[in-house]
Amino acid sequence: MEMPDPEPGPGEVVVDVVAAEVNYPDLLVIEGRYQVRPPLPFSPGKAAAGRIAALGPGVRHLSLGQAVAVQVEYGAYAEKLRAPASACFPMPEGMPFDEAAALGLAYQTAWFALKERAGFRPGEIVLVLGASGGVGSASVQLAKALGAKSVLAGVRGEANAELARRAGADHIIDLAEANLRDALPQRVRALTEGHGADIVIDPVGGEANAAALRALAWCGRLVIVGFAAGEIPTIRANYLLVKNIAVFGLQWSDYRDRAPEHVAQVQQELFRLHAAGRVRPFITRRLPLADFQEALRALRDGHVQGKMILTVRQR
Ligand SMILES: NC(=O)c1ccc[n+]([C@@H]2O[C@H](COP(=O)([O-])OP(=O)(O)OC[C@H]3O[C@@H](n4cnc5c(N)ncnc54)[C@H](OP(=O)(O)O)[C@@H]3O)[C@@H](O)[C@H]2O)c1
Repeated sequence: MEMPDPEPGPGEVVVDVVAAEVNYPDLLVIEGRYQVRPPLPFSPGKAAAGRIAALGPGVRHLSLGQAVAVQVEYGAYAEKLRAPASACFPMPEGMPFDEAAALGLAYQTAWFALKERAGFRPGEIVLVLGASGGVGSASVQLAKALGAKSVLAGVRGEANAELARRAGADHIIDLAEANLRDALPQRVRALTEGHGADIVIDPVGGEANAAALRALAWCGRLVIVGFAAGEIPTIRANYLLVKNIAVFGLQWSDYRDRAPEHVAQVQQELFRLHAAGRVRPFITRRLPLADFQEALRALRDGHVQGKMILTVRQR
């Protein structure tokens, strides 16, 4: 759809988008099932990378032509994106735009789940559900990069297991196993000398959530990130009591809006880890912007491993 070029307001910029990150929540937004329902017509897309094309009044820390990663509520599937200047993060020299876009929502979410909500400490054991997905594979990589003792990856199927191993997972747990409620905690205990998982990162929900809750160690923490399985689980409070367990929710966009300086620091840390070769997004598919429907269909049908990127222009 053709729209007039956006104009930046005070404190805003316009970015010529080069690459946009495709994320599961984009689907929820267009289906009207997300917390925020944009007014029609709108473009979906929560993260992108591109070059500053226009500066609004009062913006001093960015310059025309500068390469930035951008985080927004929606609008990144577009040639031009209007965004608050505080949501633009200067990219390191030479970083490819698709990699910068892919270090967007999924990695920020993984970081805040691990560090901010769960209070991750080096030496802990982390179980990541949906470990072949965007948030999941980012969580596996970050947990390893930040010094986890061991990372257990919950996935379905051998192809997904292989991706989780490449992300750095030490052990694979089959989420398609029958009687997951018992099978998952048994396997976690067997792999951790009876200790259990100190932290569970859960972007999946459904029966995997209930099973993972039973796999936590004493004083374990579980972070609710999403419900990719399509089912919102009910937490049994008795499990929390008997093992001093804590369950946290994460809504990353609240950090973007309420604590932009913190988000900016984390983005620079993600860029540093990337430059050091410690995190590397799994970009498994690149499509032109015009094929965004195909990208979203593949996401809806569960045919996506790692990360899809929409290419909007060449540099
Ligand atoms: N809280 C936040 O701030 C925040 C931020 C970003 C994303 N999210 C949410 O996090 C979730 C994941 O997002 P994403 O971008 O990582 O999605 P994604 O790339 O599509 O990954 C979803 C993962 O979930 C797995 N999965 C789906 N259904 C499953 C089931 N029934 N049992 C076991 N595994 C299952 C998939 O594995 P298969 O290949 O086996 O299907 C895949 O590994 C979404 O619900 C999204 O809305 C939340």
